[in-house]
Amino acid sequence: MECHIGVISGDGIGPEIVAEAKKVLTAVGKKYGHDFIYTDILMGGCSIDATGVPLTDQAIAAAKASDAVLMGSIGGDAATSPWYRLPPDKRPEAGLLALRKALNLFANLRPASLYPELAAACPLRADVAGAGFDMVIVRELTGGLYFGARKTEEVDGVVTATDTLSYSETEIRRVAKRAFDIASKRRKKVTSVDKANVLDSSRLWRKIVDEVAAGYPDVECAHMLVDNCAMQLVKDPAQFDVVLTENMFGDILSDEASMVTGSIGMLPSASLNDTKFGLYEPSGGSAPDIAGKGIANPIATILSAAMMLRYSFDLDAEADAVENAVKAVLAEGYRTIDIMPRPGEPTDGIKKVGTKEIGDAISERC
Ligand code: IPM
Ligand code: MG
Repeated sequence: MECHIGVISGDGIGPEIVAEAKKVLTAVGKKYGHDFIYTDILMGGCSIDATGVPLTDQAIAAAKASDAVLMGSIGGDAATSPWYRLPPDKRPEAGLLALRKALNLFANLRPASLYPELAAACPLRADVAGAGFDMVIVRELTGGLYFGARKTEEVDGVVTATDTLSYSETEIRRVAKRAFDIASKRRKKVTSVDKANVLDSSRLWRKIVDEVAAGYPDVECAHMLVDNCAMQLVKDPAQFDVVLTENMFGDILSDEASMVTGSIGMLPSASLNDTKFGLYEPSGGSAPDIAGKGIANPIATILSAAMMLRYSFDLDAEADAVENAVKAVLAEGYRTIDIMPRPGEPTDGIKKVGTKEIGDAISERC
């Protein structure tokens, strides 16, 4: 099979972690007889430096012409980088938001599960971590506060800033269906998270989710308020299968869910539209503090490439091979710095390695 992959290496640790994901894809392609053809696409700070804007029309066209896009990370240190002296709509993040919108990537899948090998990295109490967990957050990605009208204005010497949270029933229904489809292939439970005790948009969200749920009689549907969900994620993460939520809540809860797995460096994500196309990226950011040091954890990006094989190319066996190679490498004791045992925990058989070494180990085991 021939697959055309757009590659957004981006900023910070992006180029280092994407290189390892490409290495793993090349190994898989060799073994299973696929041609992965890469087109580099500029986005984020590197695009600002080269073109003056975080995402050009040409970059959008190149992404649209690909079968799928693999992304590293974008952005820099907001306190020191000149990119953050630009107006908000010219900063690196604006490129990512514009790309999500241009490609209509409304469903963002963020799986968070605890690898038994990394149980010691989990910050939860041993009895809670011991129960394990395996959830997918389905975050709405092209609506809500991120894309509502916003303005900052001064009236009678007082500055007021406004952001708008609005959702149409169409936007809610399509992402809810995606969540129920995913749950029906998993443990058959959707927890829809909102703030229906306060927000109109959440009350509509709840109503439409209930309507969609009626079409999936074998999937349990529960509603949970977002503040309670933030608490439940650390109290009893095992209760969650699919968590469905709007854009901003999903942004916050997915960072929380990722951290209870032990490291944000482990978590992949897929942003999907109505077609087979997807944008695949690690859940973590550009980590400018460790960029260029060769110590970043590429596993989230490698697992994002596995999601790409599964969702955009229907290459399930190949995706399994990548995921199993990651598990094997962890079981053999390979660790990047972020997933090293904490002080006082056993280090027998643990091998501290850098970005390239763990990428090599995973690609050799695919
Ligand atoms: C994420 C990121 C982005 C978001 C930023 C970089 C705009 O935090 O993908 O979670 O808020 O969606
Ligand atoms: Mg985020």
